[in-house]
This record gives sequence, structure tokens and C-alpha cells, in this order.
Amino acid sequence: MRSADELARMSGLSRLEARMLLAYTLGRPAAWLLAHGDEPVSPELADAFLSLAARRRQGEPMAYLVGEREFMGHAFVVTPAVLIPRPETELLVEAAMQSLTNVKSPSILDLGTGSGAIAISLALALPDARVTATDISADALAIAQSNAQRLGARIQWWQGSWYTALPAEGRFDLIVSNPPYVRSGDPHLAQGDLRFEPVSALTDGDDGLSALRQIVSGAATHLNPGGGIWMEHGFDQANPVRVMLTDAGYNHVRTMVDLAGLDRITGGTLSL
Ligand SMILES: C[S@@+](CC[C@H](N)C(=O)[O-])C[C@H]1O[C@@H](n2cnc3c(N)ncnc32)[C@H](O)[C@@H]1O
Repeated sequence: MRSADELARMSGLSRLEARMLLAYTLGRPAAWLLAHGDEPVSPELADAFLSLAARRRQGEPMAYLVGEREFMGHAFVVTPAVLIPRPETELLVEAAMQSLTNVKSPSILDLGTGSGAIAISLALALPDARVTATDISADALAIAQSNAQRLGARIQWWQGSWYTALPAEGRFDLIVSNPPYVRSGDPHLAQGDLRFEPVSALTDGDDGLSALRQIVSGAATHLNPGGGIWMEHGFDQANPVRVMLTDAGYNHVRTMVDLAGLDRITGGTLSL
């Protein structure tokens, strides 16, 4: 039988990735391996680890291999049915919370919820908020619902395309969305993790702005007076999104940059 350290060396992965996959396979915390790397691993578990390592070498995202990704300090289950939540999307959650500091029992709508990362993080951080989340994908909604249940968040879910998913009545204090915004044919779609993620979560199949346009154009009829909207977008889409919001009559239209200094989210507020 081979030891964990030997298997890590054979895997062809970086030490960090090998340790993460070994810990996952052995059902142990990664720190356990530091003290127990010389212990023998059963042939079944060694095979399981080596097949995961082979998939990783083919580029499969780590989050899909271990079935989990952390976002806003919570562990979200992820499968290939949902986008892997990105650290830069935490900026959207932080901006949303900031915009609601003076709103009592806010009602929040997350359009295109995927794993539920945004909606669930907001519901957990703002226990008096009423959070609604939608997605066009039934498979994504099933993952989001199970994440909410596991993490103890209460959310109302609707399946369908953007606002058509919602019942006729009801308005919100804030709309948030991280919609598909990669333009069709963008070479990044054929690179890295994106090759394994749902195409419909990444691209609008158009110029990259069509989902953002639909979200902006329907927002005013779903917002309370004084309500706000925050959307994530590509690093080169801030200007067109600001124009969309300004043309639609929003005030305080502004863009925030992510930790890499790239334009990442844009928002605005309706007049009271
Ligand atoms: C970029 S992913 C964001 C997922 C999640 N909110 C996050 O930030 O990790 C976009 C999501 O929008 C959903 N989506 C795509 N087209 C949609 C539509 N027409 N109506 C509603 N949701 C849609 C996708 O299924 C996907 O879950």
C-alpha cells in the first residue's frame, strides 16, 4: 500500500491540490495530512484519489471534483449544473448589504441565482430580509434549494426567465444579479474552468449585454420607490451598463472595482 505522501507525489498535481483531493478522498481535514502523510492508504481509496487527480489534470475544476466552494464564509455545494461562485461576486453581496443599511425588513430579488450563493449569503447576513431568488434552470434551483436548507436560509424560489418567473404582484427594495455576460464566441469560454461550467450560466449567446439589458429594462416595474439595483458584469461592460441605468432614469449610478482593480459591479437607485 502506498502512503498519502507517495500518492501526492505520483498525482502530477501541485502539493496544494494533491492535498485537497487527498483530504477529500480520505474524508479528513487537509491539516490531518501534515501529520499523517506517511500512513498507508487502502488500494480502493488510492484508486479513487488517482482518478480524481487524472480528472484534475484534464482541467476539471477543483470545486466540481470536491463538490463544494466557499463563498462569503459559507460552504456551497456545487455541481456542473451551477456556476462555481467567484470571489469577486462577494463585492456584489457587500454592495447589496451596504445599500440596505437603512431599510427595515428589506425585500430582495436575486435573478439567476445558480448555486444560491448571493441570495443565501444575503438571507443569512440580513435575517429580517425577505429574499426571493430565480433561475431559468430547474437543476440549478434544486442545488440552490438544498444549499439553503443545509445553511439554514429561508428563500422564496421561482423558476423561469428573468421577471417572467415572478408572480404578478410584489415589489422589491433591491434587485441583485450576476447574469451571464460573456459574449458569444469569446475565446475564454473554451478555456480553464469555463469549459466545464453550464454555457447558459456564462454567456447570453449574444453580445454579452442582452441579459443585463433585460434585467435593467424590467427592474423599475419590480422595485419599490427608492429601490436599488446592483449587477455584476464584465470588466469592459461598466460603461454600457451605466448608460442603460441612466437612460432608464436611475440615480446615483456608479461602478465598483473588484480586488484586481477591474470594473465589476454597477448599480443605481430609483427616485422616491
Ligand atoms: C453567472 S451565473 C450566476 C450564478 C450565481 N448567481 C453566482 O453568482 O454564482 C448566471 C445564472 O443565470 C441563470 N440564467 C441564465 N439565463 C437566465 C434567464 N433567462 N432567466 C433566469 N436565469 C437565467 C443561469 O442558469 C445561471 O444560474
